[in-house]
Amino acid sequence: MAASHNLNLCSQGTALKALFTGYLIVVAVGYMMALVQIQFTHGMADGEFGLSIDDIVYSYYGKRSGSVLDAKLNGSMQVMAPDEDRAKILTWVRKGADEQAFYDNGIREIMDNRCIMCHSAESGMTIPDFTKYENVAQRAETDTGASFSSLARLSHIHLFGIAFIFMFVGLIFSLAAGVPKALKVTVIVMPYAFLLVDIASWWLTKLNPHFAWFVIIGGGAMAISFAFMWTVSMYEMWITPRRRRDDSRDALLDE
Ligand code: HEC
Repeated sequence: MAASHNLNLCSQGTALKALFTGYLIVVAVGYMMALVQIQFTHGMADGEFGLSIDDIVYSYYGKRSGSVLDAKLNGSMQVMAPDEDRAKILTWVRKGADEQAFYDNGIREIMDNRCIMCHSAESGMTIPDFTKYENVAQRAETDTGASFSSLARLSHIHLFGIAFIFMFVGLIFSLAAGVPKALKVTVIVMPYAFLLVDIASWWLTKLNPHFAWFVIIGGGAMAISFAFMWTVSMYEMWITPRRRRDDSRDALLDE
């Protein structure tokens, strides 16, 4: 018999706790995968491992002193070709990435030998196809960072997806009984506020590199509130019940 069933995490039955726990664990793993993916897409932008402010500037604002080819051949694509071949490509880029020179100076040959196993339609990878000269030439132009169309695409995916994740994490956390009201409200609202800061600063960084700091601040604040909600929810579901048998607090009303 349900002697006292109250609206707090501690008093829920095992089935609901199992559901919440399963969800929290999977989104935590998803979060970690997102961090790993950031390392791959942005972390290597400055050629060094690990995410830094330069990586963010290069990714969104671009490396205005050079082209994407420059940046990549000194970054994540450095290992794909020996120095000699990289130097040839970069010299060709600096001389204006002329189409005739592309074939005459052996750039076509280097691409065929070193790049197109990945950079072609056949590879199945969603990266530029370097079997076509135009696609190489495009990346030899000055790097102005992420395009507005890719920003728009990434922005809407992130806004919808992350808001959805924080809806459920926040809903579970709102049933925690041991957190003071002001702190609880702050932690629940924080990810939404900083999600907007984060995404707005992608666009602003494209215009002015100083905004890169807000990308870090936004992402960091989201991660902190996620970790806090996650830990408190797990604690109240699995540790608190051992301490207090009958938790009569109502997490949604006792404020
Ligand atoms: C083993 C597979 C592989 C090989 C070989 C390879 N690349 Fe890449 N390349 C990738 C992947 C994956 C990405 C996307 C991730 C990234 O940007 O680091 C990429 C991205 C790039 C980009 C950025 C494209 C863009 O517009 O975002 C450039 C430029 C590039 N590669 C140049 C080269 C060149 C030049 C070579 C040959 C010397 C080469 N790559 C060889 C896998 C490869």
